[in-house]
Amino acid sequence: MKIAFFDTKPYDKPSFQKYGEEHNIKFKFYETKLNEDTVDLAQGYDAVCVFVNDTVNAQVIDRLTELGVKVLALRCAGFNNVDMKYAFGKIHVLRVPAYSPYAVAEHTMALLLASIRRIHKAYIRSRDFNFSLAGLTGFDLHGKTVGIIGTGKIGKVFIDICRGFGMKVLAFDKFPGKSLDNGDTVQYVSLDELFKGSDIISLHCPLTEDTYHIIDEAVIDKCKRGVVILNTSRGALVDAEALLNGIKSRKVGAACLDVYEEESDLFFEDNSGHILEDDILARLISMPNVIVTSHQAFLTEEALQNIAETTVNNLVGFFKTGQCPNELCYKKGTAEDCRDGKCF
Ligand code: NAI
Repeated sequence: MKIAFFDTKPYDKPSFQKYGEEHNIKFKFYETKLNEDTVDLAQGYDAVCVFVNDTVNAQVIDRLTELGVKVLALRCAGFNNVDMKYAFGKIHVLRVPAYSPYAVAEHTMALLLASIRRIHKAYIRSRDFNFSLAGLTGFDLHGKTVGIIGTGKIGKVFIDICRGFGMKVLAFDKFPGKSLDNGDTVQYVSLDELFKGSDIISLHCPLTEDTYHIIDEAVIDKCKRGVVILNTSRGALVDAEALLNGIKSRKVGAACLDVYEEESDLFFEDNSGHILEDDILARLISMPNVIVTSHQAFLTEEALQNIAETTVNNLVGFFKTGQCPNELCYKKGTAEDCRDGKCF
């Protein structure tokens, strides 16, 4: 089996080579992202393997099918970069529904702690032998209220972590998990109550039409003064301009972003020698109370192994049986994991 692997980074290769060799899969590793200009590189391959910032729009899907590529193997959980509606009936889309919810939830807490205890500032100061504490005052997480939007795999782990810190959790999910609400330290509430009652808000829902800019200017107006906003999910959940205005007006106390709406041309690459064209991102990064990491939350050894193992198993299983439980199906008007093994 021959697979064209797009947007390859050095940390992808070892695990994919290991699992690929075990199953006689030959990966051709391309550094370039998949898009309209690069899709012809998939010629002669059985499947393409892509990540979060590859572009799989109608034009790319049409060309892939013309080239005889039957399968699109996402090596991630999110699929907002794939036109699922258009893909249905043309190309099979497989994904890795979970690789390490712990990786993402732990990174979220790392960002929160770094931000509110000013670790990012202290690290730079002490490297310069500046041992002053002025301006480094933080606040206790114990006793604070965290609002968690999306209580799936990652949201649940983040809830556990927050409870370990003695925080109260206000949760919102389109499909609430009944067993989570204990009527005390974890309570499902309306979005409005969550925004009004939370000291910290963390996003763990997918990017959909419903959740696009779920944090916007009107929401920021409703929030508590000094609210801390955490986004390790998808960039477009937050209206970045509204966030910047919230920071400038001091309404938002801090923001930690692992994702950014316009990240696809920037994140995962070394742009240190370039002039950053995106004024909003540049201004956000310049703020003392904003921490940006470049879609790094997933990046642990455990997650990389799980991503490679599941992707290879998805491909092997699909090409053997024509079915895969991790196939995304658009049959009912929204994409979800295939339940009956007959996606076309
Ligand atoms: P999941 O599918 O287990 O959980 C998502 C939850 O969001 C579900 O409980 C679902 O009911 C809920 N949801 C769906 N629509 C909603 C809406 N309109 N409002 C509120 N909640 C809604 O997914 P998982 O594994 O927990 O991942 C969550 C998100 O994290 C992914 O969609 C992805 O965007 C992001 N992610 C980010 C990574 C990173 O490296 N920064 C890595 C992996 C995932």
